[in-house]
Amino acid sequence: MYNKEIYIARRKALQQTMSHGLLLFLGNGNVGFNYADNEYKFRQDSTFLYLFGLDMPGLAAVIDCDNNRTVIFGDELTLDDIVWTGPMPTLAERAADAGVTETLPSALLFKHIENAKADKQKVHFVPPYRGDRQLLFDELLGKNAQPSLDLINALVDMRNHKGPEEIAEIEKAIGISVDMHLKALELAQPGRTEKEIMAAVMEVCLREGYYYSFPAICTTHGETLHNHGYIHTLREGDMLLLDAGAETDMHYAGDLTTTMPVGSDFTSRQREVYEVLMNTYHTAHNMLKPGITYRECHVKAWTTIAEGLQQLGLMKGNPTEAAEAGAVALFMPHGLGHMMGLDVHDMENYGEVHVGYPRGAQKDPRFGFKSLRLARKLEPGFVFTVEPGIYFIPELIDQWRAAGKFTDFICYERLDAWKDFGGMRNEENWLITPDGHRHLGKAKPVDADQLLAAKAGKFEC
Ligand code: GLY
Ligand code: MN
Ligand code: MN
Repeated sequence: MYNKEIYIARRKALQQTMSHGLLLFLGNGNVGFNYADNEYKFRQDSTFLYLFGLDMPGLAAVIDCDNNRTVIFGDELTLDDIVWTGPMPTLAERAADAGVTETLPSALLFKHIENAKADKQKVHFVPPYRGDRQLLFDELLGKNAQPSLDLINALVDMRNHKGPEEIAEIEKAIGISVDMHLKALELAQPGRTEKEIMAAVMEVCLREGYYYSFPAICTTHGETLHNHGYIHTLREGDMLLLDAGAETDMHYAGDLTTTMPVGSDFTSRQREVYEVLMNTYHTAHNMLKPGITYRECHVKAWTTIAEGLQQLGLMKGNPTEAAEAGAVALFMPHGLGHMMGLDVHDMENYGEVHVGYPRGAQKDPRFGFKSLRLARKLEPGFVFTVEPGIYFIPELIDQWRAAGKFTDFICYERLDAWKDFGGMRNEENWLITPDGHRHLGKAKPVDADQLLAAKAGKFEC
């Protein structure tokens, strides 16, 4: 964890913004995989990590803004715990690492909350995302208790602006994520299987003592956006899409996607679409600066795809109008990117709209637009992905064609020949600086020639 001063400063800033009430934070517990003692790998709650840094199960904490008091609740290990899981510092020692001087046994949390309610203190909490934590909140606060929008907004304002210590950690995650992608580039050859490439990619991450930041996508069918099957064998002429990232031991994430040719080169048709993807990716990241909205970047990305696909005879009409109408969602049905940090989709348990949209704004419910996770004005310190993709999804093409959607913009009669194309995406991680943007982490092969160099082991990061 970081030096305790970091956590003390974060909590002080949060307490100043909130000014009143009791802020309640439940750390995560262990979760049984198929019975209680066979557990999933423990992952601490990211809000708890951000404010307290303590990476072990069974903790809770309150920040009492009215009485200027912070308490960590937990239990000392029993001898049984030590026999089975090894020794651990005392609760007081763990709390001291986070700069907290007061600790109480877990059993007193209920009493503490009862007292706060009796004192008419407002109890603030962020939305839980695990069933066991939801049940605990229900028991502590009653089933009708609602998460606090004030607390969500205060934390979003802090966590959306990454400090230098966080950016350094994210860049470490991206460094290993790039190595994972270089491994896939080395192995993407006809006859290999998605499974074996996945295993090799994961080894790169695990041997650093890191973990993966989300279940990786490794597929020759990139048009299925979250394809976790790993069932295909790679063939000459295929493309392999790898969407994979590492999470550091401090739990900061990287999130990268590479689409690579399986054989010695892209086919001419793949190269044409890849050039459109590259134009889109470079256009989008070149726009990044404080004050621009990410919605503008997203619509510009869609416009660039429409221009490129018009050159290939697949779209028609005015590209900007096609983008604004939502017609390009046929080829890119997801958003241009999302915030990143302690969560790969940072803070999405708070509610996507609170993180990625201006306060009080609603999402545009139209297909494609509704998947835009980040739309707000960009500010220095924001860290997020830029991840345009181009996909040919046969079921979507057929459905839109049958419904007669966007016939002014889409050349459906040409698309039959493209239904076996698959999909491609390039994803990298960017920081907004006071005067523009900075690419985060070491270089990943991006342009087609860089991909080929990497396949030949000749790409310099
Ligand atoms: N794999 C999910 C994402 O890139 O956002
Ligand atoms: Mn990704
Ligand atoms: Mn992503």
